[in-house]
Amino acid sequence: MKTLIFFNNRLLYETKKRNYRVSSLSSQDQLKAMVAQKAVELIKPQTWVGVGTGSTVNFFIDALAQSGLDILGTVSSSEASTQRLKHLGVQVFSSEEVPVLDVYVDGADEIDPKGYMIKGGGAALTREKIVAAQSKSFICIVDQSKWVETLGHFPLPVEIIPMAATRLIERFRDLGGQAQVRLKDGRPLITDNQQHILDVRGLSIKDPLGFESMVSQWPGVITVGVFAHQKASVCLLGSSDGVKTITF
Ligand code: 5RP
Repeated sequence: MKTLIFFNNRLLYETKKRNYRVSSLSSQDQLKAMVAQKAVELIKPQTWVGVGTGSTVNFFIDALAQSGLDILGTVSSSEASTQRLKHLGVQVFSSEEVPVLDVYVDGADEIDPKGYMIKGGGAALTREKIVAAQSKSFICIVDQSKWVETLGHFPLPVEIIPMAATRLIERFRDLGGQAQVRLKDGRPLITDNQQHILDVRGLSIKDPLGFESMVSQWPGVITVGVFAHQKASVCLLGSSDGVKTITF
C-alpha cells in the first residue's frame, strides 16, 4: 500500500527510500484522496467512527491510519473495509459493541442537492445503512462525478432474498425500471450477508424518501440503495477547484 501525503496542495507518495514523489494517481483518484484526507481532518479524537466501503473509503482508511488520530475505534460496513482497517492497525468493533457512533464516513454512487444518495455499487448497502443509522452524522466523500440533480442515472442496487427475485423484477418493471441480478464470474454475486443484488436501470427517483419507504416494504427486499432516511449530513465534494463542503 502506498503512503500518500499532501504537501503544498500536491499529492505525494512515499518511495521505498523515504523520498516523496508526485503521485501517479489518476485525476479522479486524486480527488478521492483529497476528500478522504479532508474527512480525516473533521474527525475529533476520542470518538467512534463508522467506516463505509469502496475505493474512496479505501483512501479514507489509509489516511485515518496514517494520521495516528487517537479515536476510540471503528465499526465497519463490510468484510473488505474490516480487513483493510485491521491490516493498517486500526481497531474494529462489531456494531453491537458500540451503541452510538459519532460519525460515519462513506462514499456514494450518486448524491443530490438535498444529501439523498444512491449507494451499494460495492454491494455493501445493507451494512452501510445499519452503520449509518447508528451514527450521529454522515460525512459523504465523493468526487464531482457523483453529484446529480435527480437520483437514478446510476443503476439502483437492491439487496434481496434470492427467492423473491422474479417478483421484484416485475415490480420494478411496473415502475419503468429494468432490474437484473448482479453477476460475478457469471454467477449471482453473493453479498457479505449471503444474499443477492438487483441492479435497476431506467428509474428517475423524484421522491427519494417515499421511494425508499415503498421499496423497503416489498417482500424479499432486504435493503434498497436509496439513502434518504439515512441521508448525508455533510458532503465533501472533490473537484478541480478543491474540496467543497456542502452541509444539508
Ligand atoms: C459500496 C458503496 C460505495 O460507497 C459506492 O459504491 C461508491 O464507491 P466508490 O467510492 O468506489 O466510487 O455504496 O456499497
